[in-house]
Amino acid sequence: MGPASAALPQLPHRAIGIDVGGTGIKGGIVNLRKGSLTGKRFRIPTPKPATPEAVAAVIGEILDELLSREKAPAAEELTVGVTVPGIVIDNVVLSAANIDETWLECDTTELLRSLPGRISTLNDADAAGLAEARYGAGANKPGTIMMVTLGTGVGTAIVHDGVLVPNSELGHLEFEGEKPAERRVSAASRERLEMPWDEYGETLRRFLVHVERIQPVNKFIIGGGISKRSEDFLPGVTGLRAEVVPAQLTNDAGIVGAALYAAERARIADLRSTDL
Ligand code: BGC
Repeated sequence: MGPASAALPQLPHRAIGIDVGGTGIKGGIVNLRKGSLTGKRFRIPTPKPATPEAVAAVIGEILDELLSREKAPAAEELTVGVTVPGIVIDNVVLSAANIDETWLECDTTELLRSLPGRISTLNDADAAGLAEARYGAGANKPGTIMMVTLGTGVGTAIVHDGVLVPNSELGHLEFEGEKPAERRVSAASRERLEMPWDEYGETLRRFLVHVERIQPVNKFIIGGGISKRSEDFLPGVTGLRAEVVPAQLTNDAGIVGAALYAAERARIADLRSTDL
């Protein structure tokens, strides 16, 4: 370890992650050393309509509950990561393909201003990818991994040697004449199009071949609820340069990755404000 890294402040032991999904908003206290939840996750159904204000109120309720727990992070080191299923740059939401359109241009720093802790917002697939890269199917592996989440939409995350390149959004590519690709490749599309599992595996294979041409990687990690059924479709995903594996953290990846992201952002902000 070089002299500069010896001065790097440690991440806090725990942080909070909140994963905003289409049906539920889930939060948990994350042990950042292990990459797992400390205690149970807490879930509240997503309000309808899921406007930023309605979702912010639910995030507030979830935070209250988590902070009332004995193992909650101390107030002075509290960092909170929140996921959004859209492009997020500097905590501002810049796309809303699968969420209420009132999220467009929403500045989440403003929206969540009254809540405790240092809050950072990031794309949902990016959170899952960070978690898998650090603690799951990509842990301790140098090189580039791409997380592909298959749910209502298709999310992607690129992580190189542990560093996230955010907002890759490759589910919005054109693919075999369809735009966005997620209209054919998402788990929801599989159901809508009544695709048998082997056909779905073959569709996913062709999609990953397409993605690999644009962004070659060492490993694809396939996540989203459907990854529980990976033995039904992943055996058909062959012939790629990269290895293709199912996600390991499944349900908790978004929460864990959001917490990790928020803690790291806070650490970087602190470093920048310190004379090195
Ligand atoms: C959105 C992405 C998101 C993905 C998964 C896509 O429609 O554009 O931002 O990560 O769905 O939720």
